[in-house]
Amino acid sequence: MSNNIIVAIDGYSSCGKSTLAKAIAKKLHFIYVDSGAMYRAVALYFLRNNIDLDNTQQVAQALQNVHLNFHSRDYETHITLNDEEVSDEIRLMPVSDLVSAVSAIHDVRVEMVKQQQRMGQSKNIVMDGRDIGTVVFPAAQVKIFMTADPKIRAERRFKELAPKNPDITLEEVFENLAHRDYQDTTRKESPLTRAEDAIILDNTDLTPEEQLAFALGKIKPFLN
Ligand code: DC
Repeated sequence: MSNNIIVAIDGYSSCGKSTLAKAIAKKLHFIYVDSGAMYRAVALYFLRNNIDLDNTQQVAQALQNVHLNFHSRDYETHITLNDEEVSDEIRLMPVSDLVSAVSAIHDVRVEMVKQQQRMGQSKNIVMDGRDIGTVVFPAAQVKIFMTADPKIRAERRFKELAPKNPDITLEEVFENLAHRDYQDTTRKESPLTRAEDAIILDNTDLTPEEQLAFALGKIKPFLN
């Protein structure tokens, strides 16, 4: 049996999950997997190909034509969709607006979870998302559930998006986040919930360094 370590980080949008996950991966030389980027890349494919989200057959067919790959450079997410680098495009608003609906589709989740579980078979990984500790890796050694004040989250996301989306407003970002929170927590398929054994990390008033120290403290007992 493989005894690799899995760190599962779940939580609301723009809570700093990826910042923490990357910092952990860098410090411990783990592989970082941004599961949200996978749903975003699928959403981009559906958008480009006008896939009708209510048409189960069309969705299933489209999923067969979606080939995703991660390329790790400096612990940043580089994802390809059918060999095309789409890391920037998946962060733009058209994808952000569609991705919750795409990630609520049963067949999409089954395919993504299968691929994510394969990535965690033999290597030490940190994966962030919404269902990592509950569905993808229920036996993960460390599970962290992140939260933060919604206004702070919107401000953080705005700062991140503004350089690439010059017309964007803070209100728009706040609305998009609120809408995604609602969809993520109320959807039928794997809604965002805290795993019973997940540790809550509210980072409203914590620096990235403090969050990293907290997480390392939880992971250390599993390192040999
Ligand atoms: O983390 P993010 O904002 O990039 O995620 C994009 C969308 O994908 C978000 O609306 C929730 C969804 N998602 C999911 O349903 N399950 C995951 N494991 C990761 C993301």
